Amino acid sequence: MADQLIIFDTTLRDGEQSPGASMTKDEKLRIARQLERLKVDVIEAGFAASSNGDFEAVQLIANTIKDSTICSLSRANDRDIARAAEALKGAHRARIHTFIATSALHMEKKLRMTPDQVLEQAKQSVRFARNLCGDIEFSPEDGYRSDVDFLCRVIETVIAEGATTINVPDTVGYAIPELYGNFIKTLRERVPNSDKAIWSVHCHNDLGMAVANSLAGVKIGGARQVECTINGLGERAGNCALEEIVMAVKTRRDYFNLDLNIDAQHILAASRMVSQTTGFVVQPNKAVVGANAFAHASGIHQDGVLKARDTYEIMRAEDVGWTANKIVLGKLSGRNAFKQRLQELGVSLESEADNNAAFARFKELADRKSEIFDEDILALVNDEHTAGEKDQFGFVSLSQHSETGERPHATVVFTVSGKEVTGESDGNGPVDASLKAIESHARSGAEMVLYSVNAISGSTESQGEVTVRLQNSGRVVNGVGADPDIVVASAKAYLSALNKLHSKADRVAAQG
Ligand code: KIV
Ligand code: ZN
Repeated sequence: MADQLIIFDTTLRDGEQSPGASMTKDEKLRIARQLERLKVDVIEAGFAASSNGDFEAVQLIANTIKDSTICSLSRANDRDIARAAEALKGAHRARIHTFIATSALHMEKKLRMTPDQVLEQAKQSVRFARNLCGDIEFSPEDGYRSDVDFLCRVIETVIAEGATTINVPDTVGYAIPELYGNFIKTLRERVPNSDKAIWSVHCHNDLGMAVANSLAGVKIGGARQVECTINGLGERAGNCALEEIVMAVKTRRDYFNLDLNIDAQHILAASRMVSQTTGFVVQPNKAVVGANAFAHASGIHQDGVLKARDTYEIMRAEDVGWTANKIVLGKLSGRNAFKQRLQELGVSLESEADNNAAFARFKELADRKSEIFDEDILALVNDEHTAGEKDQFGFVSLSQHSETGERPHATVVFTVSGKEVTGESDGNGPVDASLKAIESHARSGAEMVLYSVNAISGSTESQGEVTVRLQNSGRVVNGVGADPDIVVASAKAYLSALNKLHSKADRVAAQG
């Protein structure tokens, strides 16, 4: 019988620690819903003690998600652990994930604690956590660079105190597959009570080996949980990518002989949702979810695939959610067809009002764009989610003039607390003029740290999807806007970012 491999997604915690990838509570909930659709076993929803925003996000996700275990990270102290337990109260299945650094470098320089103090703190914390929750994960931070004898003592102690999962992080992405796999194997062999816990791997991608290291931890080391993020999002070079680990284990079942709960058909939608929400664009040649992942440009390859698909394809594009780039809907499509397509794309809108608003926007788009692709619908729904009724700023209309040799000029009409205002400005280009026109009224003083445009369905007829990242008083937010006119998309993205800056319910400090 094949063993089960547990997929632990930490997009909303470790992924969010990536500079600029901060998400609002509602965005986190949307992604959590998609992870539930994907049948992720454990969702690490945040770090409850790190801020009120993060506490609320963990709580909201715990109260909403039914099928996945919901986890909160916490440092190894009673206050953090109690806060995590409190946020997780409403969860169907809850997990507390507590960690403390165990490498000599981290203990001495960061924690300024002796190994014995760290051991004692780990022990007391797991004991405390176990009284609050039956499912406890313990991570020795920088575990891979820790002294193996000391690590064995710590792990034996926390398992004896009731830790049910032992996660061994390669916090700085220093590992090499064979060495990391053997490291996990050694720990499992040397810790006397190792069979009382599930072993987990958590690899960062600094040397581009996070997925390879995780697979080695599974194959050589016998780990049965992998921690990963959608699109490999995460600090520095990121984490192990969920889509890659899942498809490696599924595609090479002959080698790994492991079962997964994951419903891979929802992978692409999850990837797009995370990319759209954070503004972290997926590179075209990214495995599984990149635009070129299943595209064959060379004549020899195309010929081979047409004759027998498996000549050059080891996975089926449709198995991870790609559909042929066909026209799915148009001007004459009705409400039911639209609703059904949303369902097929794994999108569920909360209320009838949301459905009606999305349908109205779809009709509006169909009037301007004859062919509506899946990508258009996903962008439209994303736009719908980011444009809320209680928003401070709302887009109304835009006109701009640009001509060779002349400085572009833009007039933007938008609402501020429901009242229409008009901003005007010139600028280096039409986008610059439009955003300056908004700023002439909004006066946010925010600094733009990222501006990116992406053609949603690949041609000049497609919608442009714009991401704007703004920074103000230490807060970083992303705004996304989509429209066939990229100047309008830019204005929408800018207003969406301003709304997030304005909203107090926003963000969520990264791990402290
Ligand atoms: O990389 C790391 O060490 C972590 C731990 C907190 C699990 O993210
Ligand atoms: Zn990490």
